[in-house]
Amino acid sequence: MTKYSSKISFVLDGEIAEIDFSENKFLSPTMTVLNFLRSLPNHKGVKEGCAEGDCGACTVVLGELNEDGGVDYKAIDSCLVFLPMLQGKQLITIENLGTSANLHPVQKAMVDTDGSQCGYCTPGFIMSMFALYKNYNNPDRETIDDCLTGNLCRCTGYRPIVEAAEISCVHDGLDQFTDEESEIAPLLTAMKIASETLQLESNGQSYFVPNSIEAILQLRKEYPEALLVSGATDLALKVTKQKQLLKQLIDISQVEALRQYEETADDLVLGAGLSLEEVKALSSENFPALFDTLAVFGSLQIRNLATLGGNLGSASPIGDTPPILMAYDASVVLHGLDGERTLKLKDFITGYRQTELSNNEIISKIIIPKVKDGSFVKWYKISKRKDLDISTVSAGFRIKLSEDQTVEELELIYGGMAAMTKNADNTVQALVGKKWTRENVEEAMNFIDKDFTPISDARSSKEGRRVMARNLVLKFWADTAAVNV
Ligand SMILES: Cc1cc2nc3c(=O)[nH]c(=O)nc-3n(C[C@H](O)[C@H](O)[C@H](O)COP(=O)(O)OP(=O)(O)OC[C@H]3O[C@@H](n4cnc5c(N)ncnc54)[C@H](O)[C@@H]3O)c2cc1C
Ligand code: FES
Ligand code: FES
Repeated sequence: MTKYSSKISFVLDGEIAEIDFSENKFLSPTMTVLNFLRSLPNHKGVKEGCAEGDCGACTVVLGELNEDGGVDYKAIDSCLVFLPMLQGKQLITIENLGTSANLHPVQKAMVDTDGSQCGYCTPGFIMSMFALYKNYNNPDRETIDDCLTGNLCRCTGYRPIVEAAEISCVHDGLDQFTDEESEIAPLLTAMKIASETLQLESNGQSYFVPNSIEAILQLRKEYPEALLVSGATDLALKVTKQKQLLKQLIDISQVEALRQYEETADDLVLGAGLSLEEVKALSSENFPALFDTLAVFGSLQIRNLATLGGNLGSASPIGDTPPILMAYDASVVLHGLDGERTLKLKDFITGYRQTELSNNEIISKIIIPKVKDGSFVKWYKISKRKDLDISTVSAGFRIKLSEDQTVEELELIYGGMAAMTKNADNTVQALVGKKWTRENVEEAMNFIDKDFTPISDARSSKEGRRVMARNLVLKFWADTAAVNV
């Protein structure tokens, strides 16, 4: 089943590029695309700022084949992407856009608006804006802000940069990449891993790229110590920040079966490998609170890489999707060699970064039931910044009220308050069967102290967390009163 290939292929500068890990000891499978590009003589436009996905200086664009045979363009942070993740994709860098004599429309607009001073952030901004240019015509301010959230500039100020996006993204995405798409798409098709699993061996590392769930599970059996990697937005930090040598990795990002979704009358069923940006789009109609969660999750560059399976797999107590998915009563499907089992997400996460997943399984799907009983679901995130920040306290709340405003069912699920995502059981108990009035809510809020013993850390003191958690219940009351459930 496993093909012992030491090579990956991708498109760079309009041609197929190959990296043979057995031939070049300087390159390892966990080298980031950023470091690879910076090692080339003609691709040094990409910059390193933070090496952890926070500044966008390393932004590049990936071209990927879409279902219609065309190419989709996505901005990503190259500091978080391992080289084999380029397999079968088009890597577009600032050098591919335009020359000083023939600027791309987004570059020209940036010059015209004086959107650059020291210029360190500029290639990253241009690449984010290029992806915007390819995906939107005449985007509104909200879309522009969202596209630029992942890019920091410390000297110019954002007004001229936003203006550059406003004046340039008005050409239906037409440019030289549109002209070249008919040549690039066949190259991308030819590079798809059809019936083989890549095994890249280099510098004491084994990096597997399977192409099916069965192939992943077989590898899980053969290499029980190997780490699964999907979008790598958590895992890459072990390499870039902690300087760890990850010896065995199973990269599941090429498995199409994990990127499927289905909407039935009752549920939304999401493949664990769908990116959070894809999940955001899929949730917009029927799961507004999940949409709200993802609207301020990381940045667009992060959401284009990060997966739902990865957010649940890491089981972080400050992960943003577990509280809201628990409020929606979501389940996870765990796929092993012996078949599938489905667990409520509440039962899946068992402790600090602990789950029910055994080392011969993967999360293959997430099932989110539609809200049909008149319940109201809401999500809250308290962080130091609105965008691109980790939650200090987050919450997924759900309430069902009777006609006379008595609380029939209630879930108050918190992140950031304990070692794992957790329901405020005592507070809930104090409210169920009571009238949903401010007086009763204020009384019940005192039970938060019984429910949680939060810690103090760089984000907040434990007292601060308690106040936030208590006040979120009151805010929920005010918000439910506002929609008159
Ligand atoms: C700049 C930045 C901003 C961020 N902002 C946020 C934020 O706002 N909110 C938030 O919650 N998180 C945030 N994160 C954390 C991270 O992006 C998320 O946790 C993300 O969802 C991880 O997904 P991934 O696919 O990148 O996971 P990976 O890094 O690939 O994997 C993470 C873990 O999940 C496991 N895993 C992955 N897929 C599966 C699967 N299918 N089955 C079983 N296990 C699996 C892996 O083995 C690994 O242990 C941020 C990270 C960065 C770098
Ligand atoms: S270097 Fe800062 S996001 Fe990559
Ligand atoms: S122009 Fe200097 S950081 Fe943006």
